[in-house]
Amino acid sequence: MTDAWSLGGKRAFVTGGARGIGRAIALKLAERGAAVAVADAHPEPFSGERYYRLKRRFSGDEEQISTADAIQQLGGHAMQLQLDVADADAVGRAAETARDAFGQIDILVNNAGIVNNIASIADMTAEAWAHELQVNLSGAFHCTQALVPAMAQQGWGRVINISSVAARQPGMGQPAYTASKAGLAAMATPLVLSMPAELRQSMIARTALQQLGTPEDIAELAGFLASEAARFITATAIPCDGGLLGAPAG
Ligand SMILES: NC(=O)c1ccc[n+]([C@@H]2O[C@H](COP(=O)([O-])OP(=O)(O)OC[C@H]3O[C@@H](n4cnc5c(N)ncnc54)[C@H](O)[C@@H]3O)[C@@H](O)[C@H]2O)c1
Repeated sequence: MTDAWSLGGKRAFVTGGARGIGRAIALKLAERGAAVAVADAHPEPFSGERYYRLKRRFSGDEEQISTADAIQQLGGHAMQLQLDVADADAVGRAAETARDAFGQIDILVNNAGIVNNIASIADMTAEAWAHELQVNLSGAFHCTQALVPAMAQQGWGRVINISSVAARQPGMGQPAYTASKAGLAAMATPLVLSMPAELRQSMIARTALQQLGTPEDIAELAGFLASEAARFITATAIPCDGGLLGAPAG
């Protein structure tokens, strides 16, 4: 691993980090040196509802202890926050708590997600529809709004949204999930465009990031794709374009 892969000194906030993909991301960020705030509605092992377990997954050793404890046992630095991302006020308080503990947050991973409504639009209640969007889409909005302004002030930050293939290939009986994940994927563009004006002005016109990429930018992605770390990525195109594809024309 090159220095460019290091997250030493960085502080991350991972939603839905108690189990599954969020837990793996939290552990990976910690392994790379980041301190991690694990924010989850059910942060303790086995306390989570089976939100996204369409196929039964048996919890292995990894879930015998909480993610935060697992990180600490590995010599990393972590804290645990009980948080429902659907609750904007609670997100604001959790962001403050994490900032107080870590000094600042540099990396936000919007991972918390549910798919607990399997129904056609005709059969889905308005409440069920609203709840799924509130968690999957508004939850990411709440966290982004709570944490990104400070990142902009710091001059460094990362927001990683965990969407789904459902955003491009809608699943049967998952209209709310599909809509929420497509919205989440689309949320990145306005986020980039909301960078501070002075930063925007200093960049070159056509990309969302308003700067030209370097050969090293491409090399970083290629290095990752070539590595064992990318073993599960196949037959896909990953734009590495500073937001060119997502930027408005003109
Ligand atoms: N598992 C997959 O195959 C798959 C595929 C595509 C996308 N995803 C997405 O990846 C993310 C993680 O999926 P997973 O399979 O690891 O799910 P999971 O159910 O194993 O874990 C989700 C975690 O999010 C937490 N959570 C749920 N609602 C929350 C809320 N309101 N506030 C805070 N935390 C909450 C749960 O407690 C749980 O710890 C989700 O956003 C999901 O949509 C998963």
